Amino acid sequence: MAEFKLKIRRYDPEAGAAPYWDEHTVDLEPHRSVLEGILQARNENDGSIGVRCSCRSAICGSCGVRVNGKPGLACHTHLDDALASAGEDGVIEVEPMGNMPIIKDLIVDMDAVHWKKIQRVTPWLIGKEPVPEREYIVSRESMIDVTQSMACIQCGACVSDCLSMEVDPLFVGPAALAKTYRFVGDPRDAAHEQRLKDLGEDKHGIYDCTHCFKCIEACPKGVAPMNQIMRLRRIAGNDFHIKDRNNGERHEAAFVKNIEKNGILHEADLLPDSYGGKFHPRAVPELISSLPIVMTALLRRKMTPGKALLHPHKAPDGVKRIFEVVEGRDERNEFNLYISGTDANNEGTAEVAEAIETAEPAGVAPDGTEGSSA
Ligand code: SF4
Ligand code: SF4
Ligand code: FES
Repeated sequence: MAEFKLKIRRYDPEAGAAPYWDEHTVDLEPHRSVLEGILQARNENDGSIGVRCSCRSAICGSCGVRVNGKPGLACHTHLDDALASAGEDGVIEVEPMGNMPIIKDLIVDMDAVHWKKIQRVTPWLIGKEPVPEREYIVSRESMIDVTQSMACIQCGACVSDCLSMEVDPLFVGPAALAKTYRFVGDPRDAAHEQRLKDLGEDKHGIYDCTHCFKCIEACPKGVAPMNQIMRLRRIAGNDFHIKDRNNGERHEAAFVKNIEKNGILHEADLLPDSYGGKFHPRAVPELISSLPIVMTALLRRKMTPGKALLHPHKAPDGVKRIFEVVEGRDERNEFNLYISGTDANNEGTAEVAEAIETAEPAGVAPDGTEGSSA
């Protein structure tokens, strides 16, 4: 047994008082969970501590909290690990999850945010017609592809830490978009295109994610929601050629073209190219509205007119080779930059890896000057 100090964030909106920190000392074996610590504090010190839990085995997803500022499952966080990430005072801080209203203490309103967003994406399979007499037969590989998104336990940890959702509370969000991939990746579903069109056109949909990686770090089940969002975008753009009103598809295409041409990102071209080129009617209002930012950057000498208008870099041969290898394929291989590991049987992946190894270092131009990187 060892003593652990827990500092619990307390707040009761109905009482009208301000939130405050409440400290408790608990006596438990170090491998026991933070949830057990909270429950001991509640049983022995203060029965009014609000916490939600059920399975205590990282399955039901109901005990999502923030421990020392990071979202996760209280029942899946060992006290000794929590102590290791605590501040110098050795006190473990437990707070409610973010991006959701607090009902009481550590209990957040999942219905108001998380479940509403899950409902938004039609979270069930829309079966293909004709319905088979007995069952749909699908290949094992196609189900392996969706297993990652199926591992979600709806705990809301990713929602809690999503930076886009902090800025835009209407963003559909990581959990609901991971759920969408569960059906878009499923060959039995008949509504792939409609789902992607709907979420591509929605300005709070798949193109509202800013690739901050927070949901990947937060997820206790390895669902990697951002990966699933990138897959949705690839399928929307490459397979269904959905040109959304949000310009997401054009922006991604402009980004790829920019890197192919320059080797490193030439930001001055990215904005107009995302809208169809400098003189395209769609680009003109965007360019005008970005003038104050450009002027500020010029005045602060963050960019020079020469750098903004000219292309100092040309893509080195190594970068060109990556594009040749990838674009020369008959079929698109999922080469997911966000998943680590190698597949010894995947010759295409090995070829790309070799091309990357021989390419110039990212962010450094052939002449040795530094530029912005992708
Ligand atoms: S990667 Fe996208 S979905 Fe995930 S937390 Fe960041 S902004 Fe949100
Ligand atoms: S994706 Fe992960 S973090 Fe998000 S709700 Fe599902 S299990 Fe929780
Ligand atoms: S209590 Fe069920 S996941 Fe923690």
